[in-house]
Amino acid sequence: MTIKLIVAMDQERGIGKNNDLMWHLPADMKFFKETTAGQIVLMGRKNWDSIPERFRPLAGRENVVLTRNTDFTADGAIVFHSLETCLAHYASDERDFFVIGGGEIYRMALELGCVDEMYITHVDAVYGADTFFPEFNSTGWNMTELFHHEKDEKNEASFTVKHYIKK
Ligand SMILES: NC(=O)c1ccc[n+]([C@@H]2O[C@H](COP(=O)([O-])OP(=O)(O)OC[C@H]3O[C@@H](n4cnc5c(N)ncnc54)[C@H](OP(=O)(O)O)[C@@H]3O)[C@@H](O)[C@H]2O)c1
Repeated sequence: MTIKLIVAMDQERGIGKNNDLMWHLPADMKFFKETTAGQIVLMGRKNWDSIPERFRPLAGRENVVLTRNTDFTADGAIVFHSLETCLAHYASDERDFFVIGGGEIYRMALELGCVDEMYITHVDAVYGADTFFPEFNSTGWNMTELFHHEKDEKNEASFTVKHYIKK
């Protein structure tokens, strides 16, 4: 199992505000959907809550939610109470394991040092977030730029998607 992380952040490393995304970027949503299709997606309980009910579980992916609340259930998702237990459960799974946020879950995964690859959408704007992607040491990663998307009538900001592979 390869452990990957996928995130979109603004120029202040902002990823969300009031438990919601801050931008409308369907081209990035499409990239997220295609990249995670058929794989396992791990999210924090707040991220799960933030997804409108009609869109969850995220279709065509195994949805996994992390919470400390042992009474919590999520229709269509598998619930774990620690990242270590969750990773152990999927250790021999052939699918990719995607950490899909939010902020607490990204931080925990990076601190644990378990992430092999990251897909980061760098949005060329500032949104005044209340939740942020952690700083990471860029010297520890080989980066390639996957594509740049210009602002257009459907996408309110330009953005660049970069792929980071742990050295
Ligand atoms: N831009 C992006 O790419 C992106 C992606 C995803 C999310 N987001 C945004 O990020 C924000 C949400 O992020 P967040 O940091 O507030 O919350 P989060 O990371 O989604 O979820 C936090 C929750 O995860 C659970 N948790 C955390 N550590 C745990 C541990 N060690 N063991 C078990 N459970 C644990 C807890 O759930 P309980 O409280 O239930 O115990 C905690 O409240 C939203 O604004 C969302 O829109 C942005």
